[in-house]
Amino acid sequence: MQTYPDKHPIRTEDGTLTLYSSTYDQAYHSTQAGALTESLTKHVLPALHLQHAKDHLTILDINYGLGYNTLATLYHIRKHHLETTVHILSPELDEALVRSLKDFDYPPEFDTLKPVIEALSRDLHYEDKQCTIDILIGDARKTVPQIPTSTIDIVYQDAFSPQANPLMWTREWFADVRALCAEDAILTTYSTAAATRMALHENGFELYEYHPEGTRRSLVASSSPIEMGRLDGLEWIDMELKIKRNPEGRSLRDGEVV
Ligand SMILES: C[S@@+](CC[C@H](N)C(=O)[O-])C[C@H]1O[C@@H](n2cnc3c(N)ncnc32)[C@H](O)[C@@H]1O
Repeated sequence: MQTYPDKHPIRTEDGTLTLYSSTYDQAYHSTQAGALTESLTKHVLPALHLQHAKDHLTILDINYGLGYNTLATLYHIRKHHLETTVHILSPELDEALVRSLKDFDYPPEFDTLKPVIEALSRDLHYEDKQCTIDILIGDARKTVPQIPTSTIDIVYQDAFSPQANPLMWTREWFADVRALCAEDAILTTYSTAAATRMALHENGFELYEYHPEGTRRSLVASSSPIEMGRLDGLEWIDMELKIKRNPEGRSLRDGEVV
């Protein structure tokens, strides 16, 4: 496996490998949940479950990193023989990382995805009959507003944390994301921070706490209300009540963070 000047591999709780970034002083995944487990339980399973009725999905995977969310999406679709076609768009600043991933020690679940991993490392693009993937190299704050669509069905908001990478969590960032979303888009994120909830709420998202089996709670946001009972473990967050109880609560804002 490739070595990096600013990152080193760590084995996570479910046995899958992630990286630790000394630049951001943070691991790419929750080491307690496990890289693959986190990707499946907090992002892929709830999002695909809620959007299962669609025969085509456009997914924004923020940000590509090691590609677990993109690859776990394909893994899930193939494992369950889903017929939906999918287009995944994924911003990433670190081109050298993406180029190196052909040699990354992924879990056996991704063994059949080797041709996908190799094509993405080489071309930043992959395409077959069911699935198209584009990695958008550059600063997501610049590349995302240029995506020519307003029909994103699923957003995996999986940047480094609001403390480590605040510009990926501001009110203005979520305004850019929201502008690309379909009326019934689903956004998943591991961050349940008050500032994250506020930024999403201020952009008109409905918010839900999600309690996946076996891992910590996470957040599901939706462009329009989700009917109760559609996904086990989902609990609506009454943001007006939260704001009444904590009027000081504030979203992160561009211009106030770097
Ligand atoms: C927590 S990791 C993403 C993990 C990834 N979802 C996965 O499953 O492997 C965050 C990623 O965001 C990238 N990043 C940080 N700032 C960025 C920016 N402004 N634009 C695009 N990518 C960025 C980092 O290089 C890193 O790869």
